[in-house]
Amino acid sequence: MRLSDYTLSDLAGRYDTPLYVTDGERIRERHRKLRDAFEGSRIYYSCKANTNTGILKILREEGSFADAVSMGEVFACFRAGFTEERMMFTGTGVRDEELAFLAERSMIINIDSCSELKRLCALSKKPLDLSFRLNPGVGAGHSDKTITGSRNTKFGMEEDTLMSAARLAVERGHNVRALHCHIGSGIMSNEPFIKAAEILESVASRLDVPLEFLDVGGGFGVPYRDDEMELDVSSLAKALRSIIKEPLAIEPGRYIVADSTVLLTRVNTIKSNGGKSFAEVDAGFNTLIRPAMYGSYHRIRLVGDQEDRGKRTYDIVGPLCESGDFLALDREMPELEEGDILAIENAGAYGYSMSSNYNSRPRAAEILVEHGRDRMIRRRESYDDLFSEKVA
Ligand SMILES: Cc1ncc(COP(=O)(O)O)c(C=O)c1O
Repeated sequence: MRLSDYTLSDLAGRYDTPLYVTDGERIRERHRKLRDAFEGSRIYYSCKANTNTGILKILREEGSFADAVSMGEVFACFRAGFTEERMMFTGTGVRDEELAFLAERSMIINIDSCSELKRLCALSKKPLDLSFRLNPGVGAGHSDKTITGSRNTKFGMEEDTLMSAARLAVERGHNVRALHCHIGSGIMSNEPFIKAAEILESVASRLDVPLEFLDVGGGFGVPYRDDEMELDVSSLAKALRSIIKEPLAIEPGRYIVADSTVLLTRVNTIKSNGGKSFAEVDAGFNTLIRPAMYGSYHRIRLVGDQEDRGKRTYDIVGPLCESGDFLALDREMPELEEGDILAIENAGAYGYSMSSNYNSRPRAAEILVEHGRDRMIRRRESYDDLFSEKVA
């Protein structure tokens, strides 16, 4: 994110806060960086990280494929112009109605269980393009809640189950195009990916079905703290290529969008209690849940002139009626004043997409800046939006 403080305070003034501001060029850069590192591989952008149509359109223009995990995400991809041929559906606990919808489409369906396969086969009237999700027994991630590849998680199938599911699919005349695994999110080293890739390759080599590609999932971490190092995606790509014989696919979300976006929030109230200083801002865990949900760290900076301010340590907290509603605890900041605008960095992944209406608060607006011009890519919700139920 290279937008100046001048631009950010201007946007906060014109569009109000809380406000997500995205630098479109940065998304293009991050996608290109992966495309260069993983040359020739399919990049399925994992749209759960950020499903804004304006952002999905940028990725479509960049030639990305897309991975959707719900019907809502499928529709988001359609709205952004992704064709079914460039999409994959990776669901868990998928309903029959959803399977019936998928059975008529031509996107790759990533099978998570035998139950899903059998129900899908019963509903399909044509050969389907399938991938099979392996549970490799290797998991990693920035939080226990984001580890998906270890044995005790609900995701994917163990090797034997996967083998019999894939063979059943072949018997029923479906196209088994790929094997897949996704071991977790926010991974900052190559080793877990390498371990999982070795297992995926060994399962693929034992499955006597020709595969079009092996998908090693997403999970590429980004530095949130100053002392964290960037993941070296070129060395990761090289290592994975030396293990995987088939063409490779990846499914990154966070890596592409995280650092393209800041969340702007305004300080409403400065107060102290029990010897602690609180800066109460207008974004809470309804706007950005990562700190409260995962204990995640986001850099937070004061936008604009900071001269002549001392330092003070604050809990930076939201407006929700929960003591767990915080964006940062014990954070040293320039001495804050009511009305200040703060920029919460790295808010592009799992920011808006995990936001909610808790405490009946409308969701924030989203702004995209490209080529020096800003435009609203999602308007701020109104109270009418919140209470528009058409029930008697
Ligand atoms: C199946 C699958 N693929 C890809 C991703 C993307 O992960 P990340 O945003 O960490 O790259 C996820 C996220 O949890 C996922 O569940």
